[in-house]
Amino acid sequence: MLDNLEPQSPDALLALIKLHAADERPDKIDLGVGVYRTGQGGTPVFGAIKAAEQWLVENQDSKSYLGPEGDMGFVNALKPYIFGGDPTMGGRIQGMQTPGGTGAVRLAAALAQAAGMTRLHMGTPSWPNHAQIFGDIDLEWVGFDHANPDGTANIDAVLDAINGAGPGEGVLLHGCCHNPTGIDYTAEQWDAIADALASSGTFPIIDTAYHGLGHGLDEDVDGLRRVLAKVPEAFIAYSCDKNFGMYRDRVGAFYIMSKAGPEGADTLDKAFSNANALARASWSMPPDHGAAAVRVILRDPAMTQQWLDELDQMRGRMRQVRDYLANAGVAGSVDLAPLGIQNGLFSMLPVSKEQVVALREDHGIYMAGSGRINVAGLTMDNIDKFIAAVADVTG
Ligand code: LMR
Repeated sequence: MLDNLEPQSPDALLALIKLHAADERPDKIDLGVGVYRTGQGGTPVFGAIKAAEQWLVENQDSKSYLGPEGDMGFVNALKPYIFGGDPTMGGRIQGMQTPGGTGAVRLAAALAQAAGMTRLHMGTPSWPNHAQIFGDIDLEWVGFDHANPDGTANIDAVLDAINGAGPGEGVLLHGCCHNPTGIDYTAEQWDAIADALASSGTFPIIDTAYHGLGHGLDEDVDGLRRVLAKVPEAFIAYSCDKNFGMYRDRVGAFYIMSKAGPEGADTLDKAFSNANALARASWSMPPDHGAAAVRVILRDPAMTQQWLDELDQMRGRMRQVRDYLANAGVAGSVDLAPLGIQNGLFSMLPVSKEQVVALREDHGIYMAGSGRINVAGLTMDNIDKFIAAVADVTG
């Protein structure tokens, strides 16, 4: 029976981790998978996480099962950071824990499909796993151009997609720090998107995996809040894997926003029960440890402050790298200036697949085949080498 299977190539992004590990050149540079790195090149566990884990060692009294919704203390503690002043938006928000942001995206897509969504519109390029997830559950998706050649958002394309869609169709938006381009919508563009969603009836799914890595916790969800203020219903997929550095612990959440009023409350209960049933059939319940640590941090003012300081440091370092690259101006045929106005871990270089291979083979620089780089892989020690290598292969 197993001979019926077709071989699958390994995920290209994850395969890069192994390729980089096998390279023995001491000055190799890893700009592949999206993990934050310090100026020394490491990805240490946050001090706030260590403190919360210590607290859990001493105080956690059971590892008995939770439900499919996971740790609701965690889910609710995140809400003010995402939704702001009224964290339930008048009782219109319900959430649950998921295995990473990936679990949340999958749950969002599966629930949308169960509710009758026939087609999802998605700006491309996008995180490659988005297409894999939608393909895996047979949710049809169509792409529109996310980016202009000058490194800004193609706002006309997203508005055309939303206006051309309508009820029964959805759009996937990145809440902030777009993966892979780093290109975020401006406040005015988010307003236009919110208006288009409200008038067309197109359903928004907002993937927010890099909250706090762009301009700040409030700033990075400003667009999301502008959308939620205008639309009747939405899904939000959320990840703590980056902003708490919990990657392998898989810490995510999925939030449903339903329409206002008593009828909306019934809809929310119904949608939440369906999300629970889907989660139960998929992973039964999410892994506890990372979410418990986040909950412990967010309930303790001192640990929260420590986390906020660590997040500030991450953001500051990425901004320093971006500013340095932007000030360098041009490397070969690559204009680095747009990287200064883009946000988060990622930006895309306009390089060919052959040039990506040449960067890897000739210079020991590892990046996704798309030309995406993780700017946090650059440090003040290796950034000049990187700029010179880009000039060499593209010049
Ligand atoms: C990335 O895009 O590098 C991260 O989101 C990690 C992943 O799972 O692909």
